[in-house]
Amino acid sequence: MNEAPSRKPEVVEYRIGRQGLGDAAAYDALRYTGPAQEYKQAVMAGAYRRLIGPLAGRRVLDVGCGTGRGVVEFIPEAQFAVGCDASLDMLALAVTKARGQRAGAFAAAYAQDLPFADGEFDVVTSLNFLHLFSLETQRRMISEMKRVAKPGGTLVLEFDNALQGLAIGLYKRWSGREQGLFPSEIRRVIGGDCRIVRVCGAVFPVLWRLFYRAPRWGRPIEKLAYVPPFNRLAHRVYYQLLKT
Ligand SMILES: C[S@@+](CC[C@H](N)C(=O)[O-])C[C@H]1O[C@@H](n2cnc3c(N)ncnc32)[C@H](O)[C@@H]1O
Repeated sequence: MNEAPSRKPEVVEYRIGRQGLGDAAAYDALRYTGPAQEYKQAVMAGAYRRLIGPLAGRRVLDVGCGTGRGVVEFIPEAQFAVGCDASLDMLALAVTKARGQRAGAFAAAYAQDLPFADGEFDVVTSLNFLHLFSLETQRRMISEMKRVAKPGGTLVLEFDNALQGLAIGLYKRWSGREQGLFPSEIRRVIGGDCRIVRVCGAVFPVLWRLFYRAPRWGRPIEKLAYVPPFNRLAHRVYYQLLKT
């Protein structure tokens, strides 16, 4: 009997030996190393940590964890933290960073089909991940993230913003360089069974390239993006959701 071919889930491939950012071995060096990237990362972490809040006693899942930027930071604070990702090469690097820490675990998984029971986690995060996928896939992934969050639990999701620097975001979207979303599109992919509590922005496009050279005055200005109305002008927007 012929079986119907199962549809391969949408995956953005990261593995050792690929070109550019897709090369797992080079990912941290390209994305998080050097003064410019470290500055950007600190500004972004300031935004998502505001929304995640204290992690003591909480069970955390970081979806699309990659080399562990989020989950490795959460493990020492949380009751336990799990990172999941589709790439074994990325997971191997995250595991190395978390070695020796008792409260961490990692799973190879597609975000469209998370291998966890309903309501398993107090906090679910997804950083620098969702914008890589079509809207339909984002909807499916977020629906899974909501399923594994407990009622009353928190989700913190990062999106690319089509309104960043107004004309800049619109140009990036029009030219296909980035697929930033408008707030109405973000609300649609988030869907039901949750309430949007807060939206924080991070990193003012173009300006951050000046600010990182003088972080002492750049950082306070960047903090404006953490709150309305400037949050809507930032490169990335972080949505804090309460699972209902
Ligand atoms: C841009 S990296 C982000 C990693 C990390 N969250 C960070 O902030 O550095 C995107 C990650 O998504 C993973 N990925 C791609 N498609 C996926 C899928 N369908 N399900 C789960 N992970 C996936 C990749 O392997 C990669 O590690």
